[in-house]
Amino acid sequence: SIYADSEVASAAVAAQIADLIRARAAEGRPCVLGLATGSSPTRVYEELVRLHREEGLSFQNVISFNLDEYYPMQPDSLQSYVRFMREYLFDHVDIKPENVHIPDGTVPPEQVAEYCRRYEEQIQAAGGIDLQLLGIGRTGHIGFNEPGSGPASRTRMITLDHVTRTDAASDFYGEENVPRRALTMGVGTILEARQIVLMAWGEGKAAVVKRMVEGEVTDTVPATYLQRHPAVQVVLDEAAGAEL
Ligand code: GLP
Repeated sequence: SIYADSEVASAAVAAQIADLIRARAAEGRPCVLGLATGSSPTRVYEELVRLHREEGLSFQNVISFNLDEYYPMQPDSLQSYVRFMREYLFDHVDIKPENVHIPDGTVPPEQVAEYCRRYEEQIQAAGGIDLQLLGIGRTGHIGFNEPGSGPASRTRMITLDHVTRTDAASDFYGEENVPRRALTMGVGTILEARQIVLMAWGEGKAAVVKRMVEGEVTDTVPATYLQRHPAVQVVLDEAAGAEL
């Protein structure tokens, strides 16, 4: 769907998530959300906080799994995705802390493989992801699945693309401070979500959105694997959808 602007689009996505949370609660079941960071989902989180405050939307039945985290990364660092999620969502709603999962950027290198395997197990144990929110990077990455990430990839440590590190440079006060690696759910992990909502705003995303939607499916643009998923919504503002 292409919306006039990202604010209206984000409100629609938030309303959809709220409906899902409430529907699951009415059945006495958990709602498992796959969550993303970056500038694309911030307004969705702000709207969810508003729905919590003003309309009593409860997150008591929500289990969340974030897509990714820089590596190494301390949770209290300015740039950590733990901090991001607290600031935009978790500190403002009634989600149970034990139901929040974010890849841990402090795991020692020799334990990363085992840690990532357990992250996958926790997703399975929760019943799998009901709805996965995604942004898209200019390299065509989803999560931090940079070019070269195949459809069978699982949660793991990856090396960040040069373009991604350039795009993150301002957050880290210089490209030299951007971590070279990250932990991310794999493309295969993401494709197992029952429903996927990818958001992209602004003219800077128009070219990669076109490649994702209309291009050949290839690991050169990992987001193209979403073409194979039966329930993906691509939510754009007019600028991001301008080349379609
Ligand atoms: C980062 C995140 C991705 C996100 C991408 C796009 O690389 N790890 O998950 O989709 O940035 O970011 P933005 O939404 O700020 O454009």
